[in-house]
Amino acid sequence: MNSPVLTIDGPSGVGKGTVARVIAQQQGWHLLDSGAIYRAFALAVESRGISITDEKSLEEIATNLDLAFKTHADSELVSVFLDGKDVSKVLRTEETGEKASKIASIGVVRAALLKRQQDFATLPGLVADGRDMGTVVFANAPFKVYLTASADERANRRLKQLQAQGSKGIISQILVDVKARDERDSSRKHSPLKPAKDALIIDTTTLSLDEVIAQVSELVKA
Ligand code: C5P
Repeated sequence: MNSPVLTIDGPSGVGKGTVARVIAQQQGWHLLDSGAIYRAFALAVESRGISITDEKSLEEIATNLDLAFKTHADSELVSVFLDGKDVSKVLRTEETGEKASKIASIGVVRAALLKRQQDFATLPGLVADGRDMGTVVFANAPFKVYLTASADERANRRLKQLQAQGSKGIISQILVDVKARDERDSSRKHSPLKPAKDALIIDTTTLSLDEVIAQVSELVKA
């Protein structure tokens, strides 16, 4: 690996994406939102009407996934194009997150999406967020962070995020979804959600975004 990589892993709703984006901007590094890849893949499988037990087709779709990310100078949002179509809005829904979480537990899918993710590690550097960035995809990364927070706090953050995107959510339902996703992502056989042994673990429950960013920033500068 020639390029420096900062991995940011953690459960859903912890704010990894926001922290990753700010640090990438500060450092002038590339950004990999690996969850977006799993989400887009889930949409691709659904739109083709493929069963999630059909591993051969899943592998083929994952290998040939036609996916592009577009950043905007005037907005923090990144547009995501699947098969040439802008899927940014549907990509971010809880429903798509749930579908992604189910399909992300399949070993052949993870293997087929591995290189695509590793290819993001180009100079001058990369900030990669997800579940297995520090444990599997960039296991040799020099900088690793694992962000966590209570499920209640994460459900609250998720609700605010949905509202900021103009979507609606019910806090009790989001909490149920967050816990279900935690359980599935942590207990799966392939690349389960867990901190890398050499990750800096930050419990963000009572921290502000700025405080979290300051800690991560210090790690990268050190
Ligand atoms: O982070 P995000 O909520 O977008 O991820 C959606 C789902 O994709 C997660 O719940 C997880 O199951 C899966 N995922 C994964 N490995 C990653 C990133 C996401 O399994 N590196």
